[in-house]
Amino acid sequence: MIHLLGEEMRKVSSAEKVMIVTHPRINRLYGNDVVARLKGVGFSPTVVQLPEGERHKTLSHVQRIYDGLIQKRFERSSLLVALGGGVVGDMTGFAAATFLRGISYVQCPTTVVAQIDAAIGGKTGVDHPKGKNLIGAIYQPSLVLIDPLLLATLPKREFIAGLAEIVKYGVILDKKLFYFMEKNVDAILAQEPSVLTYCMRRSAEIKAAVVGADERESGLRKILNYGHTFGHAIETVTGYRQYKHGEAVAIGMMAAARMSDRLGIGNRELIDRQERLLERLGLPTRFPRLNPVEIMKVLYTDKKVVGGKIHFVLPEKIGSVGVQKVERDSIEGILRDLCLS
Ligand SMILES: NC(=O)c1ccc[n+]([C@@H]2O[C@H](COP(=O)([O-])OP(=O)(O)OC[C@H]3O[C@@H](n4cnc5c(N)ncnc54)[C@H](O)[C@@H]3O)[C@@H](O)[C@H]2O)c1
Ligand SMILES: [Zn+2]
Repeated sequence: MIHLLGEEMRKVSSAEKVMIVTHPRINRLYGNDVVARLKGVGFSPTVVQLPEGERHKTLSHVQRIYDGLIQKRFERSSLLVALGGGVVGDMTGFAAATFLRGISYVQCPTTVVAQIDAAIGGKTGVDHPKGKNLIGAIYQPSLVLIDPLLLATLPKREFIAGLAEIVKYGVILDKKLFYFMEKNVDAILAQEPSVLTYCMRRSAEIKAAVVGADERESGLRKILNYGHTFGHAIETVTGYRQYKHGEAVAIGMMAAARMSDRLGIGNRELIDRQERLLERLGLPTRFPRLNPVEIMKVLYTDKKVVGGKIHFVLPEKIGSVGVQKVERDSIEGILRDLCLS
């Protein structure tokens, strides 16, 4: 699929200058091939390499992209290509949204998270020392080219963490996808192309459909946050060091499923099947022994607090969720049980 990048880009752009934004590790693996493909269809590509890791998703690194663009005299018609995971994708998209008030860009995602989530939907941006993704823009790419074969070189823990987001799509909207995953755990972990492609395609389709219906998250798009309210709190309280994002989301989905059961919305079967699937995929499901007071503090500084209540995405059954405001007392009660069990 990546071999089609040049041709596909030509369909959306007649530019000459193209800047590929990536990390050194990804550049070593795929950079030469991508450059050759782009040259093959008449682009004139240059490469900018940024350091990897969430802590480098900052304005100062976007500045490095601007510096390169200005130095190479890029114009309104020029093009950016994000070759990497969500970190590269979010920064490249933001640079594209803002350079000369907006130039076109292409997403060529190389992680599970980026292929089924970050590269689709147009959310771009960087972190601020006070919080994640606080600066950004919604700005759609001209093309998203998804090649699951690129995942073969992804570190195993990164790959597995990304699978949590596929489970999420199954629980919120697609029971068939959930059942398919249950039946094909071994093939998914072995990255068998047809099985992995099905999971990735369905996930990307769901993300695109939800974003297509609600780009600015005024309603439906909220359901994509399933597992993320508790997940983000766990990531924050543990300083983003202990868990990969997907791992925290897996634990967050279990917490949300239990909350749903407690509130009489969900049920035991949902909890058990979700837990079993996550565990078989190698994902954590047990809530860590953290201080519930600290978790509450983080939950209540989140942007989803409305009038003292927090919006939670709560599953009813596999393939169907609702969004509900939950009172502080209920959240505290559930958290106490989760943190101490
Ligand atoms: N814009 C959105 O809608 C959206 C959605 C979800 C996540 N995100 C953002 O995405 C980021 C997380 O993205 P991520 O999980 O892709 O992490 P990441 O971009 O940090 O990539 C993870 C690691 O894998 C390496 N890597 C990437 N592809 C590889 C490959 N094919 N082979 C070998 N190594 C490879 C990278 O160099 C990096 O070290 C976060 O900043 C998050 O906020 C954005
Ligand atoms: Zn996520």
